[in-house]
Amino acid sequence: MWPFSSKGPSGFSWYSTAEEVTQGLDGSGLTAIITGASSGIGAETARVLALRGVHVVMAIRNVASGNSVKEEILRETPSANIDVMEVDLSSMESIRKFASEYDSRKLPLNLLINNAGVMATPFMLSKDGIELQFATNHVGHFLLTHLLLENMKTTSRESQIEGRIVNVSSMGHRLAYREGICFDKINDQSGYMSMAAYGQSKLANILHANELSRILKEEGVDITANSLHPGSVISNLLRYHSFVDAIARTLGKPFLKNAQQGAATTCYVALHPQVKGVSGRYFDNSNLADPSSKAKDGELAKKLWDFSMESGDEGAMIWTIHGGIREESFCNRNRPHEADTIGCVVGR
Ligand SMILES: NC(=O)c1ccc[n+]([C@@H]2O[C@H](COP(=O)([O-])OP(=O)(O)OC[C@H]3O[C@@H](n4cnc5c(N)ncnc54)[C@H](OP(=O)(O)O)[C@@H]3O)[C@@H](O)[C@H]2O)c1
Repeated sequence: MWPFSSKGPSGFSWYSTAEEVTQGLDGSGLTAIITGASSGIGAETARVLALRGVHVVMAIRNVASGNSVKEEILRETPSANIDVMEVDLSSMESIRKFASEYDSRKLPLNLLINNAGVMATPFMLSKDGIELQFATNHVGHFLLTHLLLENMKTTSRESQIEGRIVNVSSMGHRLAYREGICFDKINDQSGYMSMAAYGQSKLANILHANELSRILKEEGVDITANSLHPGSVISNLLRYHSFVDAIARTLGKPFLKNAQQGAATTCYVALHPQVKGVSGRYFDNSNLADPSSKAKDGELAKKLWDFSMESGDEGAMIWTIHGGIREESFCNRNRPHEADTIGCVVGR
C-alpha cells in the first residue's frame, strides 16, 4: 500500500475528489441509477456524474430531500439531466414498484450504483422480516440489481458500451461476525451486534459483486461488477450514534474525508477508462485494494448468492411477510415485479 498522502498506481490518492478523478471524462449518453442519492456520498456522486453529462436517476426514499438535492445540482449545472424516483430499499414491494416504473419509462441503464446504506442500527426487522441492515444494504440491492439486469444487458448490447455495477461497501466488512455471514441467524435478535451486523451486510456487498462478476463473465456479458470502500467520510451515516457523530464532525474532521473525496472512488469505478474490463475487484482511494480473506472466498460468495436467490430456470425465491408470518415467495423472471406467494410458511 502506498503512503496515506501519495498517489497510487491510478494517479489518485486519499485526497482526490470525485471531480478530480472524472476530470475530462464525458459521460453523455450514459444513464445511471444511484441509490441513496439524497445525502452524503450518493448526493455528491449524483452531482459529479451529472456534471460529466450522465443522465442521473436518483433512487431515493425521501422524495422531498431528493428534489432539494436535484434543485441544488440544477442551480450549479442547469444542463444536468436528473430524475428523482422513490424506492425504499428495505421493502421488496417498493423495489419491485421502482423497477417496474423504471421499465415503463423505457430508460436504458448503463451504470447501477448501489450506494444507499444504514449503519449500526439498533436491532430492527424490515417490512419483509429481515434484519434491517442486511435487508437495506444487501438484500434490497441484490433484488434491485436482479430486476434491472435485463435492462443493463440490453443497454450494453445495443449501445456497445460496457455496463458497470458498483457496490458501495466499506472497510467495515472486516468487522463482520466471525463466520462472515451468519446464514441461519440473520434475523435473530439474540447475539445481534450492530457493528458486526453492519460488517456482515458490507461483506455481502463485496461477495455479491464478486459472484455477479463471475456469472456475467461466464455469460459473456459486457457488464462489470465491482465493490469499494469510499473512505471514512463525514455524512449522515452515524445518525443512530449522535455522540460518535459529534466527535467525528469535530475532533475527527482532519482525519475524515469530505463528501467530495468520499464520492471519488465511486465515480472513478463508475466512469474512469482505467477501470474498463476490470470486474470482481475491490477499490479504495480510487485504486485497486485488497479486501479481507472472507471477501475473497468464492464458496462463500456462491453460498450467499444461493441464499439471496434460489435460482432455477424460471425464477427466484425471495421472502415476504404476510400477517407477521414469513413466507417464501416465487418471483418469476418473466414477471419479475410480481411475487406469487406459494405459501411455504417459514416462521414468524
Ligand atoms: N460515511 C462513511 O464513512 C462510509 C464508510 C464506508 C462505507 N460507507 C457507505 O457509503 C454509503 C453511503 O453512505 P453515506 O456515508 O453517504 O451515508 P448517508 O449520508 O447516511 O447516506 C445514506 C443514503 O442511503 C439512503 N438510505 C438509507 N436507507 C434507505 C432505504 N431503506 N431506502 C432507500 N435509501 C435509503 C439514505 O436516505 P435517507 O436520507 O432518506 O435516510 C441516504 O440517502 C453507504 O452504503 C455506507 O455504508 C460510508
